[in-house]
Amino acid sequence: MSKPLTILGIAGSLRKKSYNRAALRAAQQLAPENVKIEIFELDGIPIFNQDEEQNPPEKVKQLKARIRAADAILLVTPEYNYSIPGVLKNAIDWASRPYGDNAWQGKPVAVMGASIGAQGSSRAQYHLRQVFVFLDMLPMNKPEVMIGNASQRFDEEGNLVDPETRKHIRELLEALVSWTRRHESARGEGA
Ligand SMILES: Cc1cc2nc3c(=O)[nH]c(=O)nc-3n(C[C@H](O)[C@H](O)[C@H](O)COP(=O)(O)O)c2cc1C
Repeated sequence: MSKPLTILGIAGSLRKKSYNRAALRAAQQLAPENVKIEIFELDGIPIFNQDEEQNPPEKVKQLKARIRAADAILLVTPEYNYSIPGVLKNAIDWASRPYGDNAWQGKPVAVMGASIGAQGSSRAQYHLRQVFVFLDMLPMNKPEVMIGNASQRFDEEGNLVDPETRKHIRELLEALVSWTRRHESARGEGA
């Protein structure tokens, strides 16, 4: 049997009824066998200040440790003004610093997102992919999961009730597992 994988899931919203946090919880339920999706909530991370990067806040130290302990990353992003919400970009920036101590480096990563608009956060997702370049991550290209018209796909309790979207998330997770295992075997790791 192949080695169990841990995926660290991070949603770029602090909102209680966030569709993106709800999509991440759905991914947790849809995880393939032998795969655990852990969630890191971004509340409580202060605004980045480069003066503090050598001695970052406790929550940032935790974030970096959780990224490093994970086999892969799943980012679930809202779209704010056609781009990445500040709360997510702020966390990304913290965990990339100080220079030479970038926790994201070499991590397989998948991205998905939800918005109330028709495009399902696609523009924010493509901006994130640009950021992955300097972070030196290993982004999975496909499948893309863009959850448009999110208000129609979740119930009042934040359960993802749209079967098509559940299927797409499941496919993304299966592809992320293959992508991660492919990189592990290239490095001579894994089972
Ligand atoms: C500051 C701000 C900017 C937004 N800009 C966009 C946008 O560019 N495209 C879009 O589809 N939705 C946009 N929205 C609407 C979001 O899709 C919606 O608020 C969504 O629920 C946010 O994700 P969440 O539910 O995970 O918090 C914006 C919302 C806010 C608060």
